[in-house]
Amino acid sequence: MTARSISSCSAMAKKRVAVLISGRGSNMAALIEAAKAPDYPAEIVLVLSNKPDAGGLDTARSNGIATAVVDHKTYGKDRAAFDRAMQEVLLAHRIDLVCLAGFMRLLTPEFVGLWTGRMLNIHPALLPAFKGLDTHKRALDAGATIHGATVHFVVPEMDAGPIIMQDAVSVRPDDTEAALAARVLTVEHRIYPAALKLVAEDRVRVVDGNCFIDGTRVPDASALTPAT
Ligand code: GAR
Repeated sequence: MTARSISSCSAMAKKRVAVLISGRGSNMAALIEAAKAPDYPAEIVLVLSNKPDAGGLDTARSNGIATAVVDHKTYGKDRAAFDRAMQEVLLAHRIDLVCLAGFMRLLTPEFVGLWTGRMLNIHPALLPAFKGLDTHKRALDAGATIHGATVHFVVPEMDAGPIIMQDAVSVRPDDTEAALAARVLTVEHRIYPAALKLVAEDRVRVVDGNCFIDGTRVPDASALTPAT
């Protein structure tokens, strides 16, 4: 075996990842950047958007990554048909892992079931707190002193599923929604590539709804020291 064929074998061993976006795609960009490292165990081979004008599509293209649009408007209220169309695209690109990165569509349980243990999501809060939208405003309104971001496996229930990684920020007394969002986004850009790396290396196991990394239970967020 030549050196070239050995290196292409190891490249083929990387997990093929699709990133699903609906907007600007800064988490997608963080994943793309991380995956440029030669020893990163995954490659971003597809960016799929449900919105033709998602800003992240241009970023993906400028990085030479294939893009696809499955416009949810085409399918009206037929979520199953929309999900089937996405599944076709994912199969066509021989995708191993799916990363939801600001993908703002609810997925059918049937579609989620096809990707059990192989679909990740990032959420801008310390789940199970503040599921859903407007997480930063709600954290401020609730007087939370700690906030953060979560990467988890996707299950049919929205913003639930085994937690792979979390990290926290302190909420400052004079915080604004924008300032807090920016600090949490920095955390997101750090933990999403780190969590995908662990999953792509097959180091994450789910037992009774909890993730174990290399056999050790993921610590809950209260065990984390808030970054300043
Ligand atoms: C991110 O903050 C992500 O956590 C959030 O949308 C933003 C997308 O930003 N996702 C959710 O709220 C999903 N529940 P990005 O397009 O710059 O990555």
